[in-house]
Order: sequence, then C-alpha cells, then structure tokens
Amino acid sequence: MDSNGDGIGDINGIVQKLDYIKNLGIDVIWLCPIYKSPNDDNGYDISDYRQIMDEFGTIEDFDLMLKEIHKRGMKLLMDLVVNHTSDEHQWFIESRKSKDNIYRDYYIWKEAKDGHEPNNWGASFGGSTWEFDEETQMYYLHCFSKKQPDLNWENPNVRKEVQAIVKWWLDKGIDGFRMDVINMISKNQEFPNGPKPEGKLYGDLSPNVMNGPRIHEYLKELNKNVLSHYDVMTVGETPNVTPEIAEQYVGENREELNMVFQFELMDIDRDFEHLTKKPLDLVDLKKTFTKWQKGLESKGWNSLYWNNHDQPRVVSRFGNDKEYWEKSAKMLATCLHMQQGTPYIYQGEEIGMTNVKFDNLNDYRDISVFNGYKDEVLIKKMKHEDYMEYIYNFSRDNARTPMQWNGENEAGFTTGTPWINVNPNYKSINVENQIEDDNSILNYYKKLIQIRKENDIVVYGNYDLLLEDHQEIYAYTRTLEDKKLIVICNFTKNESVFDFPENINHLKFKTLISNYNREYKSEKQLKLRPYECIVLIN
Ligand code: NOJ
Repeated sequence: MDSNGDGIGDINGIVQKLDYIKNLGIDVIWLCPIYKSPNDDNGYDISDYRQIMDEFGTIEDFDLMLKEIHKRGMKLLMDLVVNHTSDEHQWFIESRKSKDNIYRDYYIWKEAKDGHEPNNWGASFGGSTWEFDEETQMYYLHCFSKKQPDLNWENPNVRKEVQAIVKWWLDKGIDGFRMDVINMISKNQEFPNGPKPEGKLYGDLSPNVMNGPRIHEYLKELNKNVLSHYDVMTVGETPNVTPEIAEQYVGENREELNMVFQFELMDIDRDFEHLTKKPLDLVDLKKTFTKWQKGLESKGWNSLYWNNHDQPRVVSRFGNDKEYWEKSAKMLATCLHMQQGTPYIYQGEEIGMTNVKFDNLNDYRDISVFNGYKDEVLIKKMKHEDYMEYIYNFSRDNARTPMQWNGENEAGFTTGTPWINVNPNYKSINVENQIEDDNSILNYYKKLIQIRKENDIVVYGNYDLLLEDHQEIYAYTRTLEDKKLIVICNFTKNESVFDFPENINHLKFKTLISNYNREYKSEKQLKLRPYECIVLIN
C-alpha cells in the first residue's frame, strides 16, 4: 500500500492496513527487505543495514510501525540478507579500492584463471558469477546479480559485523528474521567448476555454495552469540535441501534455526533445462509433501507455503484461474493449511490474486527477467515468444504486481503511477469485493486460520497420506490421540470419487470446512466436484 502517491508501497501504507492483516488472523508479519538499497534486486541488495530505503520511509516510520504491530498483538520478522550486500555498501566500496584495503577480505576476490573467470559457475540471475574489476584487475564473486557481491564468511570480522546487525534489530524489538539464502554463506574454498549440462552456458554453482563445509558452524555461532539471547523466531531460505539436510538446520537440539523454506515443491512443475512448465504430476506433489511431513515429524518443524515474492501465483500455477478460480484457490489453501507446520500467506494470496501477462518485456521489472533474456534469447537464440511464455509461467513479477485493494484506480494501491503495472483483473479480484462476502476466498482463509487456532489436531496431529497413487485426489489424515481429521482435495476439474478407507469408521465424522459448503452425511463414498475439498473431523 502506497501512502504518499509516489507509486511505491511504503511503511506508512503497511500501518494503514494493519487492521486488515490482524482481522485476517495473522500472528506474524514477514517483511521483505526494507533497508537502504539501490534496488537492483528489489531490496535484496543492501547498501546500509541500519537504514530504511528512502522510498519506504524513515526509521521513525519503522519504529511507529513496530509499535502498531505489537499493539495489535502481532509480531514482526525482518529479512536478513547477509549472503551478499549491494556493491554500493561502504564495505564493498572500500574493498574494491585496493588489494590491501582493510575491507578487501570482506568479499571473495580471485585472480583470473588462464585469462578467464576463476571457474565456470553461472549466477542465479544469468551470466557468470564472476565480475572483473578494473581497479585491481581481479574478479569478485556474486551468486546473484553483479551488484550483489558475496560476503566472505570465512572472515571472522564479517561474521562479527553480521552479529552486530542482528543484535541491533533485535534490540529495537523485532521478533525474528527470515534469512535470505542462508545456506549459501559457506562456500567450498577450492572453488572448483560445477557440473555443466549440455547446452548450458555455465556450470551449476549449487554443489559448491549450498550447505557448504562451515555452514553449521556459522549458524551455531550466530545462534549462540546473539539469537539465543532473545525470544524470537527464525526461518531460513534454503534451496537444495532434503528433509534429512533440513533436520540439521532445524532439529530440536541443533540450535541453529526454527524453520527452513524448502524448494522441492516449487521445482515440481518447472523444467529448468528447457525453461518450460511441466504439467502437474499430483502423485509427485503428494510424495514431496509427504516426504517433508514425515521427514520432520517430531524432529523439526515445517514451513508451509505455496507463494512468496519469488514464485508464480498458486491459483494460476496448481489451480485453475479461469472457471474454477474461487473453488481451486480455496482447495489449495485447505490442502496446505491442514498440514503440520507454520503456514505462510503471501500478500494477495488470500484473495486469489493470479499471474499476470504483460505483452511488452519492458513492463517487467525483475532483473532476472532481463538477464535471463540476454542469456536465453540473445545468446542461445531461444524464440522470443517461448521466453515470454516462460516468464508468464514463472516470472517473479507474477507475485509482485500491486496488492488489489479495490476496483478503483490502480486497484487502490496508489494515487500515482505504480512502479509496476497492476494486474488488469483488479476490478473483479480485490479485497473490497471479498471482505463482506461470507463465501469469498478471503473469508475462507480467515476460517482456515481460525480452525488452526481452535483445533490442536491441526497443529500437533500426525500426518498420513491416503490414496498414494491416485492421480486426481490428494487426501490425508491427521491424528492426535483418538481424534482424526480427514482432508480430501480434488486437484482437477473432473469429477472424482473418494472411497473411505476400510480402517476408518466413516460414521463418526462431520464437516469441519468445505469449499462447496457441503455437509457430510456419513457417506462411504464421496463424489467430488471440480476442485472440491472437504475436511472431516470426528
Ligand atoms: C532469495 C530472495 O527471495 C530473492 O528475492 C532474491 O533475489 C535472492 N534471494 C537474492 O537475495
């Protein structure tokens, strides 16, 4: 929400919407980075960790926001982006000046190898991870854009600086951190080439930068020196983790993090080699969810999400954003919210916001769209139309169009010109249309949140998958002592039949929630309509 008409959402805009957020039932707000930044990557390139980005407001605005959040009984998580800084951070400005600058070793500098980059790694936003710097004739490492140089965590001074930043914000009274690509901070110090599949321009950096040799030492140190002295929560963003690896981060006795965001689900329909979307394989999706539910059971705690600022909108992705928009949005929400873990809702998800299709490449804002265009279309000659299709499906800007508050100008987001166009469907999909409508997606989310708060079984119950091989229905149970919850979701627009398992007495159940307002009448067999879901409880 933009409070001052400059087209950019801001802190005071958030304050205006705190009642809305509270009313939805939210306990904790996670803010993407709001620190000072030249905004090469929407704030994930920080030039001063103790200041607020001019466009978003001042530190006084921040203090007021925090007070207002706490006043309403909610909490605030800030984004901690310390794998890299902006190249405009004072440390980097110093670091690049000379080889003997005291900040030189805050970053990762390497000599050229045979006149080329030190290794073959490709950066996440396209191009090489290495940028040659004229001043000292050496390369620096950047796993993301070249304006995001990676910090050198091998240097104890870097770790001390990070600890001081974390302490500074915790002393201000915030309630924890979401830690950006936190499992990338420890790199294989040999910096070997990564595997390079046929047809790719660069090698894969993941095996040598993710879950690296000293990662647990660094996280334990941060925890011991700072986090453990506060009553706060942490969630690490961790690409390339399995439940076994995740346990090392979130295991009860590990003293590292409380939760991680895993990516196995997010990669399920994405063909990284051909940059296309694969049809959803429901059996695979169920397997992945189940692996995580069982994998961390009584060992750690799951984070549950369909969406965030990097992912396409779930109703467009795994649902049907046309004739079954409302039904499929509710079904997807149910499927996720009834699982064990902490559900995260990304702005607009609660009103079923959809992907966007801009005809013109220049209407996009995300750096990865443009860098990807260079690599894929200009160098590798992928067809322009095929690339556009790819970004329609996967661009991060799908998630970043302005929040749709109402059907008026610019969806009520700003009185000015928004920094990125609003989704043209804002006249029908917006908060104002849904807030008074009992049957809306928004009020359905509210009910789901309430159900979790009122039913211990949703929090603590053990999860078990039913109908493992069914191609259309995702059904599972949650069990807590003699209580049982049965969650049944039809992921297709076909009618599909659910048969009660023999070992569960169907006579004992009643409806807890359903997206067709269906009352369960002890049937042994349920005919499910398109995208129908129902949760039963005994
Ligand atoms: C992950 C963040 O979620 C994404 O938005 C960002 O571009 C990268 N990390 C780099 O910070």
